Amino acid sequence: MKTTLRTLAILALSAAALVAAGCKSMPGYPKASEEIPRPEAVLDFNTLYKQNCSACHGDNGRNGAALPLNNAAYLAVAGVDNLHAITAKGVSGTLMPAFARSAGGILTDQQIEVIVQGMLREWGKPAEFASTALPPYASNNPGDVVEGQKTFVAACARCHAADGTGIKSSEGKPADPGTSPDSIVDPSYLALVSNQSLRSLIIAGRPDENVPDWRGYITGPGAHALTPQEIDNLVAWLTSHRASAPGQSLSSTSSTTTSATGKEMK
Ligand code: HEC
Ligand code: HEC
Repeated sequence: MKTTLRTLAILALSAAALVAAGCKSMPGYPKASEEIPRPEAVLDFNTLYKQNCSACHGDNGRNGAALPLNNAAYLAVAGVDNLHAITAKGVSGTLMPAFARSAGGILTDQQIEVIVQGMLREWGKPAEFASTALPPYASNNPGDVVEGQKTFVAACARCHAADGTGIKSSEGKPADPGTSPDSIVDPSYLALVSNQSLRSLIIAGRPDENVPDWRGYITGPGAHALTPQEIDNLVAWLTSHRASAPGQSLSSTSSTTTSATGKEMK
């Protein structure tokens, strides 16, 4: 089965049970035989990434349940400060944990720096984006739901259907199970992701799933890169579907996003 955020949320509950049983039984935690260096002495990017990030963000930063980090467009837009803040402090209300010891995590500041610099060095392509006008990483513009729906139809419907519920065959089953995305307007999915995460995904796409970045969604006549306003509108339209979730506290049209400190999500 393909790991999605939904299955990850279930796995996280069992991981919480493992934490209660002691960190050494956590998946990804070094086995006794590998435990020669003290944990804080590990300063190799690949080892740190594998032990701390790959379970959710995928081996080598791709094909995980959470946003691929091995994505040069994402890294260019997010930039070193956001990467650092989010890795250190996590995203509250989501599965993204805080890693800095000062925030209750398990990594030293030096290890976080190694991970952030490693991602930028191994997966970034700064030269490719040096002369590209990048959309802002975050935005406080609430966006327009009605305009967002129009942009969704123009930019996203070919893969997600016009209402975002996924492309179905005539029998109402997914057209191509395994490759066709599930509904992205399902409140139980939207409850697991922050507005910033949706925004990041729209801006940077998923190279591991052949999803284009903000420059490549609208092709053919009228082809253009999504404007910052269109990105705000898309987030507003997607998050407007949270309204029907019982007990969901996130406001239906707000597109207030994760701040650079990674703390706010409401
Ligand atoms: C238990 C699963 C899990 C682990 C482990 C994890 N992440 Fe995440 N991460 C997530 C999820 C889920 C999100 C999206 C959170 C949201 O909705 O904003 C995320 C978001 C992020 C983002 C922000 C993406 C954006 O929208 O800008 C960064 C950067 C990130 N993670 C880096 C890391 C790094 C580096 C590690 C390892 C040190 C790591 N993560 C480990 C689940 C995880
Ligand atoms: C070329 C096809 C394609 C286009 C165009 C496309 N998507 Fe997707 N999208 C996908 C696929 C495939 C996935 C499933 C990724 C997975 O299952 O992990 C996905 C997943 C998502 C997700 C769920 C997050 C995740 O990574 O699982 C969201 C939200 C999303 N897309 C929003 C959009 C929006 C908004 C647009 C338009 C701006 C868009 N997509 C355009 C193919 C596409």
